[in-house]
Amino acid sequence: MADRPILVLGATGSTGRRVAARLSGAGHAVRRASRRGDVRFDWSDRGTWSGALAGVERVYLMAPHELPVDPDFVHDAVAAGMRRFVLLSTRGAAEMRDERLLAAEQLVRGSGVDWTVLRPDWFDQNFDEGFFRPAVLAGELVLPLGDKRQAFVDADDIAAVAVAALTEDGHEGLVHEVTGPEALSFPQALAAITRVTGLRVGFRGTPDDYRAVVPADLAEQQIEAWDALDDGEPTDTVARVTGREPKHFHDYVVQAWGSGAWRG
Ligand SMILES: NC(=O)c1ccc[n+]([C@@H]2O[C@H](COP(=O)([O-])OP(=O)(O)OC[C@H]3O[C@@H](n4cnc5c(N)ncnc54)[C@H](OP(=O)(O)O)[C@@H]3O)[C@@H](O)[C@H]2O)c1
Repeated sequence: MADRPILVLGATGSTGRRVAARLSGAGHAVRRASRRGDVRFDWSDRGTWSGALAGVERVYLMAPHELPVDPDFVHDAVAAGMRRFVLLSTRGAAEMRDERLLAAEQLVRGSGVDWTVLRPDWFDQNFDEGFFRPAVLAGELVLPLGDKRQAFVDADDIAAVAVAALTEDGHEGLVHEVTGPEALSFPQALAAITRVTGLRVGFRGTPDDYRAVVPADLAEQQIEAWDALDDGEPTDTVARVTGREPKHFHDYVVQAWGSGAWRG
């Protein structure tokens, strides 16, 4: 199993890029797949799947935002010899009734081969690579989460847990809740960005604030989903699985700022 390449889907994205880099760094052969990856893989084009799957027994399986994991993909993967799925899901999937990711979890659980599910909290990288980057640059984030605290987690720590699950034994049949070391409210996270960068980012956090800026259907759906979230307390998953403590949000900001984040 060790000599075969490990397939990484979403290999140009926030987590996949880091999973692939960690695997390569540890000496594993990696097949980086996505529409713009080394190997072309497109969820909407089944013709691209067989090339990605050929000769592979382990996969980092992630579905891009809004897309489901296609049951045919899991079927084709197992038929092609897949022995292990490490699936990126989300913390709070059940509470938020995230049917897309709950269905993906069910697919790998029912695949008949080894599986591990990762349920990470909100990514730190949302602020510099993802959804919140435009808001940070514009100086105001609107999100109907009020003062709820979330255990923001660095994508590097998610990748480290994913690599352990892909390359070590003992993670089969487990759901790993992957978090950072502390729970912060969004205003606290934004204040950390301000302290390091000097960028001022206001926060408006009521459902009505959100309704004012997001199309009605989507707004109601997300307000309901996030309303079901509790404060996200930290877990010990990263330390337990990787042997080192997860990154603090402050250190993520320092590192991102040092790499040129939010400078236009
Ligand atoms: N952000 C959070 O706080 C958070 C928290 C928990 C869970 N999640 C989950 O994490 C997932 C997103 O992961 P991420 O942040 O690592 O990804 P990401 O940075 O959003 O990148 C998406 C990746 O998917 C690829 N992709 C997009 N459309 C594709 C298509 N049609 N076919 C094949 N590949 C495609 C993209 O590459 P190409 O453009 O090259 O195709 C890219 O590599 C989502 O399912 C989300 O629900 C996110």
